[in-house]
Amino acid sequence: MCGIVGILARDTVAPQLVEGLKRLEYRGYDSAGVATLDHGRIVRRRAEGKLRNLEAALAAAPLAGRSGIGHTRWATHGAPTEANAHPHATETVAVVHNGIIENFRELRDELTAQGAAFTSQTDTEVVAHLVSHALAAGATPRLAVQQALKRLRGAFALAFLFAGEDDLLIGARRGSPLALGHGDGEVYLGSDAVALAPFTDEITYLEDGDWVALTRDSVEIFDEAGALVERETVRSSVASVVVDKGAHRHFMSKEIAEQPEVVGHTLVRFIDMTSGRVRLPAGGDFDFSGLDRLAISACGTAYYAGLVARYWFEKFARLPVDIDIASEFRYREPPLTPGGLALMISQSGETADTLATLRHCRAQGMKIGAVVNVPTSTIAREADVVFPTVAGVEVGVASTKAFTCQLAVLAALAIKAGRDRKVLSEEDEAKLVASLIELPRLMAETLRLEPQIEKLAQTFSKALDVLYLGRGTSYPIALEGALKLKEISYIHAEGYAAGELKHGPIALVDENVPVVVLAPYDALFEKTASNMQEVAARGGRIVLITDREGAGHAGDTLATIVVPDSYAFVSPLIYAIPVQLLAYHTAVFMGTDVDQPRNLAKSVTVE
Ligand code: AGP
Repeated sequence: MCGIVGILARDTVAPQLVEGLKRLEYRGYDSAGVATLDHGRIVRRRAEGKLRNLEAALAAAPLAGRSGIGHTRWATHGAPTEANAHPHATETVAVVHNGIIENFRELRDELTAQGAAFTSQTDTEVVAHLVSHALAAGATPRLAVQQALKRLRGAFALAFLFAGEDDLLIGARRGSPLALGHGDGEVYLGSDAVALAPFTDEITYLEDGDWVALTRDSVEIFDEAGALVERETVRSSVASVVVDKGAHRHFMSKEIAEQPEVVGHTLVRFIDMTSGRVRLPAGGDFDFSGLDRLAISACGTAYYAGLVARYWFEKFARLPVDIDIASEFRYREPPLTPGGLALMISQSGETADTLATLRHCRAQGMKIGAVVNVPTSTIAREADVVFPTVAGVEVGVASTKAFTCQLAVLAALAIKAGRDRKVLSEEDEAKLVASLIELPRLMAETLRLEPQIEKLAQTFSKALDVLYLGRGTSYPIALEGALKLKEISYIHAEGYAAGELKHGPIALVDENVPVVVLAPYDALFEKTASNMQEVAARGGRIVLITDREGAGHAGDTLATIVVPDSYAFVSPLIYAIPVQLLAYHTAVFMGTDVDQPRNLAKSVTVE
């Protein structure tokens, strides 16, 4: 999961390449680099670490040239060193790559035997040598790229620059996204429309297998067979402004705080506020009445949103749900019903595992629904029906506002399904919708708990292990709370169904292990309260997150966090906030890079 850009500019291109890369850092930030043509010669500047290191290198030693390519990396093959940073180049060609070349070892051996000298451990470098070898044999750049693409197995988005070819940029995609931007006397390639937003909103999305030869005044798009094809050019709506942190120290803090607002924006797309009934957005209508089961698949936090939705679809729509993480779903070969609905949930809309599952389900004849935050993303474009979250750009690698917006959309879909299947009365629908409409206020009230949670985080920052427990729809929130803590504070944490603790994990409990218990005062509270006693009896230090009624039964805890009373249906969106804040403030105490935690990337575009 890396980000690539390519630009044929009117003037010095390096600053524009960096501008594009800034908008792609969410795809990875282990290293970055650019290549330009200086009097026809390929010159490169590369730096380990964040993009700011490349900017410093360019400030110290600027690059001339008005044609260039750039890359921001999430390491797949080879450590995040400068030598492994893209662009990779020979004397005659430079290349940047997002994806994985699965047969790179055999190609590397073959090319080495032919005399190629490799200077990196990456899979990408074989592409540079393949093209270089074809050029040396007399092929034109177009033919050399076409021949190389035929040898590659795996997923890639590529951009090529050729020595002596100041007015030529070639790109190709198979499995990873690549967009083409049209400017005034300029032309652009980028991993997505966000990267090109500073330069143009006229975007052509290349299709899988396409490759493209660009000059400043011509565009040739070829399909995998080499036939010249036309692709639609659209006006992209992606914001051209890089979002800023406002008064917040981190994007994650800002995005947690934005939740009442963006959940509200999302709900109004799915609820007719006058009738108080669910109404799916235009172009996003779907009739659930014909379904006999629903498949759901996603990764990470998005998967936990799906786990919550399973309770809702099964309880309010009596619709059986088959849910699995996307990296496992298709390998189980689940029996799928042609004509049934497969629901993919993804903030970025580019997650490779989820996209592969989408394509698997489509191949099985299923209709594809997508709950996505990026309407121009690959998953959105390949779905039959899109159910948009309206979270705005989510920069923090740890997903927060997109998660609660996903829950808002899924809640509305579960109600719609209940109504279509005639198992949910209008009266019950009205009650459920009313509880959704209260959410922005209740979530804003919950955010006021931040000072208490910040104090508590100091204790957590000293822990080595933390457990999160919940029952019913609080169980996926326990899983999400554990993931948030792990991924930004690097403290080991596990989420468990509260009833499962006694079947083994309770062996982990002692006075050094904080145990976060999520327990609204509902029908399951008593059972969870006894699980809390089991923990307390072994010296475990309990942090109880509950409502006013539950606080009255808290017993002896390290802390009791009292969230506003709410209808049980919407409690997952409310209880998500304390666990997000707990992870955030613990990470701040730990001094980790909250917005760009180590080893991670915002969008995982490799399987
Ligand atoms: C969430 O905080 C993580 N960054 C990660 O688990 C993420 O949810 C997962 O990679 C799925 O991403 P997506 O929603 O963009 O598909």
